Amino acid sequence: MKRRALILAFSLIASLGTIAGCGNSEGGDSDTQKVVMATSADYPPYEFYETAKGEGKPVGFDIDIATYITDELGYELEVKDMDFNGIIPALQSKRVDFAMSGMTPTEERKQSVDFSSIYYDAKNTIVAATGSDYKSYQDLTGKKVGVQLGTTQQEEAKTKAEEIGDITIEPRNKVSDLIQEVKAGRIDAAIIEDTVAKGYINTNPDLAFTPIEESGELSGSAIAFPKDSELTEKFENVLQEMKENGELEKLVKKWFEDYYEEQDSAE
Ligand code: ARG
Repeated sequence: MKRRALILAFSLIASLGTIAGCGNSEGGDSDTQKVVMATSADYPPYEFYETAKGEGKPVGFDIDIATYITDELGYELEVKDMDFNGIIPALQSKRVDFAMSGMTPTEERKQSVDFSSIYYDAKNTIVAATGSDYKSYQDLTGKKVGVQLGTTQQEEAKTKAEEIGDITIEPRNKVSDLIQEVKAGRIDAAIIEDTVAKGYINTNPDLAFTPIEESGELSGSAIAFPKDSELTEKFENVLQEMKENGELEKLVKKWFEDYYEEQDSAE
Protein backbone atom coordinates (compact mmCIF):
# COMPACT_ATOMS: atom_id res chain seq x y z
CA MET A 1 0.00 0.00 0.00
CA LYS A 2 2.62 2.46 1.09
CA ARG A 3 4.81 1.70 -1.87
CA ARG A 4 1.96 2.29 -4.30
CA ALA A 5 1.18 5.62 -2.73
CA LEU A 6 4.80 6.61 -3.05
CA ILE A 7 4.92 5.63 -6.71
CA LEU A 8 1.71 7.55 -7.30
CA ALA A 9 3.14 10.61 -5.61
CA PHE A 10 6.31 10.36 -7.68
CA SER A 11 4.51 9.99 -10.98
CA LEU A 12 2.26 12.91 -10.03
CA ILE A 13 5.28 15.12 -9.41
CA ALA A 14 6.87 13.91 -12.63
CA SER A 15 3.79 14.68 -14.70
CA LEU A 16 3.39 18.10 -13.08
CA GLY A 17 6.94 18.77 -14.14
CA THR A 18 6.09 17.89 -17.74
CA ILE A 19 3.06 20.17 -17.76
CA ALA A 20 5.03 23.08 -16.34
CA GLY A 21 7.84 22.44 -18.80
CA CYS A 22 5.37 22.38 -21.66
CA GLY A 23 4.10 25.85 -20.81
CA ASN A 24 7.45 27.36 -21.64
CA SER A 25 8.00 25.53 -24.88
CA GLU A 26 6.52 26.69 -28.17
CA GLY A 27 3.64 24.91 -29.86
CA GLY A 28 1.63 22.36 -27.91
CA ASP A 29 -1.93 23.25 -28.82
CA SER A 30 -3.44 22.96 -25.34
CA ASP A 31 -1.41 25.81 -23.89
CA THR A 32 -1.05 28.15 -26.88
CA GLN A 33 -1.29 31.72 -25.64
CA LYS A 34 -4.41 33.53 -26.79
CA VAL A 35 -4.29 37.16 -27.89
CA VAL A 36 -7.42 39.26 -28.25
CA MET A 37 -7.78 41.76 -31.07
CA ALA A 38 -10.27 44.63 -31.01
CA THR A 39 -11.91 45.74 -34.24
CA SER A 40 -15.00 47.53 -35.49
CA ALA A 41 -16.32 45.18 -38.15
CA ASP A 42 -18.23 47.77 -40.17
CA TYR A 43 -15.34 48.49 -42.49
CA PRO A 44 -15.18 46.45 -45.70
CA PRO A 45 -12.72 45.33 -46.96
CA TYR A 46 -10.68 45.78 -43.73
CA GLU A 47 -13.15 44.00 -41.42
CA PHE A 48 -16.76 43.13 -42.05
CA TYR A 49 -19.36 40.35 -41.96
CA GLU A 50 -20.03 38.58 -45.20
CA THR A 51 -23.74 38.34 -44.45
CA ALA A 52 -25.97 41.40 -44.18
CA LYS A 53 -27.23 40.22 -40.79
CA GLY A 54 -23.76 40.22 -39.31
CA GLU A 55 -23.64 36.49 -38.65
CA GLY A 56 -20.47 34.46 -38.40
CA LYS A 57 -17.01 35.86 -37.86
CA PRO A 58 -15.59 39.10 -39.26
CA VAL A 59 -13.35 38.67 -42.32
CA GLY A 60 -11.12 41.06 -44.27
CA PHE A 61 -7.70 42.55 -44.86
CA ASP A 62 -6.97 43.35 -41.20
CA ILE A 63 -8.20 39.93 -40.05
CA ASP A 64 -5.89 38.20 -42.56
CA ILE A 65 -2.87 40.27 -41.48
CA ALA A 66 -3.63 39.55 -37.82
CA THR A 67 -4.03 35.84 -38.56
CA TYR A 68 -0.69 35.72 -40.38
CA ILE A 69 1.17 37.56 -37.60
CA THR A 70 -0.32 35.54 -34.74
CA ASP A 71 0.28 32.29 -36.64
CA GLU A 72 3.92 33.24 -37.12
CA LEU A 73 4.28 34.06 -33.43
CA GLY A 74 2.43 30.92 -32.32
CA TYR A 75 -0.53 32.69 -30.69
CA GLU A 76 -4.18 31.82 -30.92
CA LEU A 77 -6.24 34.77 -32.23
CA GLU A 78 -9.58 35.94 -30.87
CA VAL A 79 -11.36 38.83 -32.59
CA LYS A 80 -13.60 41.09 -30.52
CA ASP A 81 -16.04 43.30 -32.44
CA MET A 82 -16.93 46.64 -30.83
CA ASP A 83 -17.73 50.25 -31.71
CA PHE A 84 -14.69 52.04 -33.12
CA ASN A 85 -14.98 54.61 -30.36
CA GLY A 86 -14.50 51.89 -27.73
CA ILE A 87 -11.22 50.53 -29.10
CA ILE A 88 -8.72 52.94 -27.48
CA PRO A 89 -10.37 52.57 -24.02
CA ALA A 90 -10.30 48.76 -24.45
CA LEU A 91 -6.57 48.92 -25.19
CA GLN A 92 -5.88 51.27 -22.30
CA SER A 93 -7.66 49.04 -19.81
CA LYS A 94 -5.92 45.99 -21.37
CA ARG A 95 -9.24 44.27 -22.04
CA VAL A 96 -7.71 43.53 -25.46
CA ASP A 97 -4.10 42.88 -26.48
CA PHE A 98 -4.04 44.84 -29.72
CA ALA A 99 -6.33 46.45 -32.29
CA MET A 100 -6.58 46.40 -36.07
CA SER A 101 -9.41 48.49 -37.40
CA GLY A 102 -8.11 50.58 -40.26
CA MET A 103 -6.85 52.83 -37.47
CA THR A 104 -4.77 55.90 -38.25
CA PRO A 105 -1.82 56.54 -35.93
CA THR A 106 -2.58 60.15 -35.00
CA GLU A 107 -0.48 62.23 -32.58
CA GLU A 108 -3.42 62.41 -30.21
CA ARG A 109 -3.88 58.64 -30.09
CA LYS A 110 -0.14 58.15 -29.62
CA GLN A 111 -0.57 59.76 -26.20
CA SER A 112 -2.68 56.78 -25.11
CA VAL A 113 -1.52 53.80 -27.19
CA ASP A 114 1.49 52.59 -29.21
CA PHE A 115 1.41 51.93 -32.97
CA SER A 116 3.18 49.72 -35.48
CA SER A 117 4.37 51.18 -38.78
CA ILE A 118 1.69 52.00 -41.36
CA TYR A 119 0.59 48.99 -43.46
CA TYR A 120 -1.88 50.66 -45.83
CA ASP A 121 -2.84 54.15 -46.94
CA ALA A 122 -6.20 55.67 -47.83
CA LYS A 123 -7.91 58.99 -48.65
CA ASN A 124 -11.21 60.48 -47.53
CA THR A 125 -14.22 60.75 -49.81
CA ILE A 126 -17.70 62.23 -49.69
CA VAL A 127 -20.41 59.59 -49.98
CA ALA A 128 -23.83 60.88 -51.06
CA ALA A 129 -26.84 60.03 -53.20
CA THR A 130 -25.89 59.48 -56.84
CA GLY A 131 -25.98 62.77 -58.70
CA SER A 132 -25.49 65.09 -55.71
CA ASP A 133 -22.01 66.01 -56.92
CA TYR A 134 -20.32 67.18 -53.70
CA LYS A 135 -16.60 67.58 -54.39
CA SER A 136 -15.30 69.54 -51.42
CA TYR A 137 -16.19 70.51 -47.87
CA GLN A 138 -17.23 73.88 -49.32
CA ASP A 139 -19.94 72.09 -51.30
CA LEU A 140 -21.30 70.75 -48.02
CA THR A 141 -22.25 74.20 -46.74
CA GLY A 142 -25.71 74.07 -45.18
CA LYS A 143 -25.67 70.26 -45.16
CA LYS A 144 -25.83 67.51 -42.55
CA VAL A 145 -22.62 65.51 -42.76
CA GLY A 146 -22.21 62.09 -41.14
CA VAL A 147 -18.96 60.75 -39.68
CA GLN A 148 -18.08 57.72 -37.58
CA LEU A 149 -17.70 58.65 -33.92
CA GLY A 150 -14.11 58.88 -32.69
CA THR A 151 -12.49 58.72 -36.14
CA THR A 152 -10.05 60.93 -38.01
CA GLN A 153 -12.96 61.67 -40.38
CA GLN A 154 -14.80 63.26 -37.47
CA GLU A 155 -11.69 65.32 -36.62
CA GLU A 156 -11.26 66.52 -40.18
CA ALA A 157 -14.95 67.33 -40.70
CA LYS A 158 -15.06 69.22 -37.42
CA THR A 159 -12.05 71.37 -38.36
CA LYS A 160 -13.54 72.11 -41.80
CA ALA A 161 -16.94 72.90 -40.33
CA GLU A 162 -15.32 75.40 -37.98
CA GLU A 163 -13.54 77.05 -40.93
CA ILE A 164 -16.50 77.10 -43.27
CA GLY A 165 -19.26 77.68 -40.75
CA ASP A 166 -22.60 76.28 -41.79
CA ILE A 167 -22.03 72.49 -41.72
CA THR A 168 -23.78 70.20 -39.23
CA ILE A 169 -21.70 67.21 -38.15
CA GLU A 170 -23.69 64.05 -37.38
CA PRO A 171 -21.58 61.41 -35.61
CA ARG A 172 -22.74 57.76 -35.60
CA ASN A 173 -21.25 54.61 -34.02
CA LYS A 174 -21.12 52.48 -37.17
CA VAL A 175 -20.27 53.23 -40.79
CA SER A 176 -23.21 51.01 -41.77
CA ASP A 177 -25.51 53.44 -39.90
CA LEU A 178 -24.06 56.36 -41.89
CA ILE A 179 -24.80 54.53 -45.13
CA GLN A 180 -28.38 53.78 -44.07
CA GLU A 181 -29.01 57.42 -43.13
CA VAL A 182 -27.61 58.79 -46.38
CA LYS A 183 -29.80 56.33 -48.27
CA ALA A 184 -32.84 57.41 -46.24
CA GLY A 185 -32.00 61.10 -46.81
CA ARG A 186 -31.74 61.85 -43.08
CA ILE A 187 -28.19 63.07 -43.65
CA ASP A 188 -26.90 64.60 -46.88
CA ALA A 189 -23.45 63.06 -47.05
CA ALA A 190 -20.89 61.03 -45.09
CA ILE A 191 -17.11 61.29 -44.92
CA ILE A 192 -15.69 57.80 -45.50
CA GLU A 193 -12.30 56.46 -46.65
CA ASP A 194 -12.04 55.67 -50.37
CA THR A 195 -11.39 51.93 -49.98
CA VAL A 196 -14.35 51.51 -47.63
CA ALA A 197 -16.64 53.84 -49.59
CA LYS A 198 -15.98 51.68 -52.62
CA GLY A 199 -17.11 48.57 -50.74
CA TYR A 200 -20.40 50.14 -49.66
CA ILE A 201 -21.09 51.78 -53.02
CA ASN A 202 -20.70 48.46 -54.78
CA THR A 203 -23.66 47.08 -52.88
CA ASN A 204 -25.64 50.38 -52.90
CA PRO A 205 -25.94 51.68 -56.47
CA ASP A 206 -28.06 54.63 -55.31
CA LEU A 207 -24.93 56.08 -53.67
CA ALA A 208 -21.73 57.52 -55.14
CA PHE A 209 -18.46 58.83 -53.74
CA THR A 210 -16.00 61.59 -54.67
CA PRO A 211 -12.47 61.85 -53.30
CA ILE A 212 -11.94 65.09 -51.34
CA GLU A 213 -9.00 66.97 -52.69
CA GLU A 214 -8.30 69.16 -49.68
CA SER A 215 -8.37 66.12 -47.41
CA GLY A 216 -5.52 66.35 -44.91
CA GLU A 217 -2.54 64.34 -43.78
CA LEU A 218 -4.53 62.17 -41.38
CA SER A 219 -4.50 58.84 -43.18
CA GLY A 220 -3.09 55.33 -43.21
CA SER A 221 -3.66 52.29 -41.01
CA ALA A 222 -1.44 50.85 -38.28
CA ILE A 223 -1.76 48.21 -35.55
CA ALA A 224 -2.44 49.65 -32.08
CA PHE A 225 -1.21 48.25 -28.74
CA PRO A 226 -1.54 49.15 -25.08
CA LYS A 227 1.40 51.36 -24.08
CA ASP A 228 4.63 49.38 -23.55
CA SER A 229 3.09 46.07 -24.63
CA GLU A 230 5.57 43.26 -25.24
CA LEU A 231 3.65 42.43 -28.43
CA THR A 232 4.53 45.70 -30.21
CA GLU A 233 8.04 44.75 -31.27
CA LYS A 234 7.17 41.12 -32.05
CA PHE A 235 4.27 42.19 -34.28
CA GLU A 236 6.35 44.89 -35.98
CA ASN A 237 9.02 42.34 -36.87
CA VAL A 238 6.52 40.06 -38.59
CA LEU A 239 4.85 43.05 -40.29
CA GLN A 240 8.25 44.06 -41.72
CA GLU A 241 8.72 40.47 -42.87
CA MET A 242 5.33 40.63 -44.61
CA LYS A 243 6.32 43.86 -46.36
CA GLU A 244 9.52 42.22 -47.60
CA ASN A 245 8.33 38.72 -48.54
CA GLY A 246 5.34 39.87 -50.61
CA GLU A 247 2.73 38.54 -48.17
CA LEU A 248 1.28 42.01 -47.52
CA GLU A 249 1.09 42.75 -51.23
CA LYS A 250 -0.72 39.46 -51.75
CA LEU A 251 -3.35 40.49 -49.19
CA VAL A 252 -3.66 43.98 -50.71
CA LYS A 253 -4.38 42.32 -54.04
CA LYS A 254 -6.82 39.86 -52.46
CA TRP A 255 -8.90 42.50 -50.65
CA PHE A 256 -8.49 45.72 -52.63
CA GLU A 257 -8.45 44.32 -56.17
CA ASP A 258 -9.74 40.75 -56.55
CA TYR A 259 -12.48 41.18 -53.96
CA TYR A 260 -14.08 44.10 -55.86
CA GLU A 261 -13.69 42.41 -59.21
CA GLU A 262 -15.62 39.43 -57.87
CA GLN A 263 -18.31 41.73 -56.52
CA ASP A 264 -18.53 43.60 -59.82
CA SER A 265 -18.84 40.46 -61.88
CA ALA A 266 -21.42 39.03 -59.47
CA GLU A 267 -23.79 41.92 -60.25
N1 ARG B 1 -8.92 55.61 -40.35
C1 ARG B 1 -9.92 56.22 -39.55
C2 ARG B 1 -9.43 56.42 -38.13
O1 ARG B 1 -8.44 55.93 -37.73
C3 ARG B 1 -11.23 55.46 -39.52
C4 ARG B 1 -11.14 54.04 -39.07
C5 ARG B 1 -12.50 53.43 -38.80
N2 ARG B 1 -12.40 52.01 -38.66
C6 ARG B 1 -13.44 51.15 -38.58
N3 ARG B 1 -13.17 49.87 -38.50
N4 ARG B 1 -14.66 51.58 -38.58
O2 ARG B 1 -10.06 57.11 -37.38
